[in-house]
Amino acid sequence: MTREITLTRPDDWHLHVRDGAALETVVPHTAAQFARAIIMPNLKPPVTTAAQAVAYRDRIRSAVPAGMAFEPLMTLYLTDNLPPDEIRRAKEAGVVAVKLYPAGATTNSDAGVTDIRKTYATLEAMQREGILLLVHGEVTSPDIDLFDREAVFIEEQLMPLRRDFPELKVVMEHITTKEAAQYVASADRYLGATLTAHHLLYNRNAIFTGGIRPHYYCLPVLKRETHRVALVAAATSGNPKFFLGTDSAPHPAHLKEHATGCAGCYTAHAAMEMYAEAFDAVGALDKLEGFASFFGADFYGLPRNTGTITLRKESWTPPESFAFGEAELKPLRSGEALPWRLAV
Ligand code: DOR
Ligand code: ZN
Repeated sequence: MTREITLTRPDDWHLHVRDGAALETVVPHTAAQFARAIIMPNLKPPVTTAAQAVAYRDRIRSAVPAGMAFEPLMTLYLTDNLPPDEIRRAKEAGVVAVKLYPAGATTNSDAGVTDIRKTYATLEAMQREGILLLVHGEVTSPDIDLFDREAVFIEEQLMPLRRDFPELKVVMEHITTKEAAQYVASADRYLGATLTAHHLLYNRNAIFTGGIRPHYYCLPVLKRETHRVALVAAATSGNPKFFLGTDSAPHPAHLKEHATGCAGCYTAHAAMEMYAEAFDAVGALDKLEGFASFFGADFYGLPRNTGTITLRKESWTPPESFAFGEAELKPLRSGEALPWRLAV
């Protein structure tokens, strides 16, 4: 039985770190594990200009503890009227991607896209400049069942978009269904997907075990077991179109434990440990390095990292909570033993 694995230092290709005092808690967690992370732009207000992305990058860099090397990779938030000119400025500033949130799909998505055709001139500029499109792949129509929104998005939105922009690199973020895994696997090299640790470890029962458990609520919501199994198969397949993106999404505990609790699971405190658990459960630890450390960098056209991390089979228990500005942050698996541990 494997007791220890050493991997090339991994990257997180989908991360929320918020802003202000929250950065002091969450950035060190990610920097302890990952060399780089794609930073989501869904702040209030959203990050819609190159100048805002650069200022946000500086604030994140200031929260990296001395002696740790961590590079935030910045994104812009796509709106109905993000000017194509901003894409050129973003490219010059080192921004690597633009995030599409269908309006109303999730946390801070009110300014998102109401009609994808309104963004076509901007998508054209992205295709030209080599800026990636990151997609929250869910339709928002109240007529569509919450559990079907990803599959419907692929048919109604993503397929036409990819036909119209065949050389735009697209990442379907945090896929949650076998339909999405199949679509990505069968697509050309311009489409990839990220997978979260929580969607690899849990099915939708986790939200309802012994009462409603808001810390397991995220969007796209956890699905049934058949989907989880398909996601694990995709992540451990060795297919380079599937790579790591935690979607670690911190919220104050009192806003998750609420009548209308926020969507988002916080996993940055133990991300690689949870991925190792999911890969180990199907005997696929040998596939973890490609998924966590190589395939994302290759898809983005960035160099692979040097340096390594080591994970050990050693039980430990994450704290019940962390300080989060004035509030409290409850991580996934707080107070529960985890079988893998990052060696320091
Ligand atoms: O669960 C989620 N939380 N899904 C998202 O798409 C957004 C994220 C957040 O920002 O909290
Ligand atoms: Zn996200």
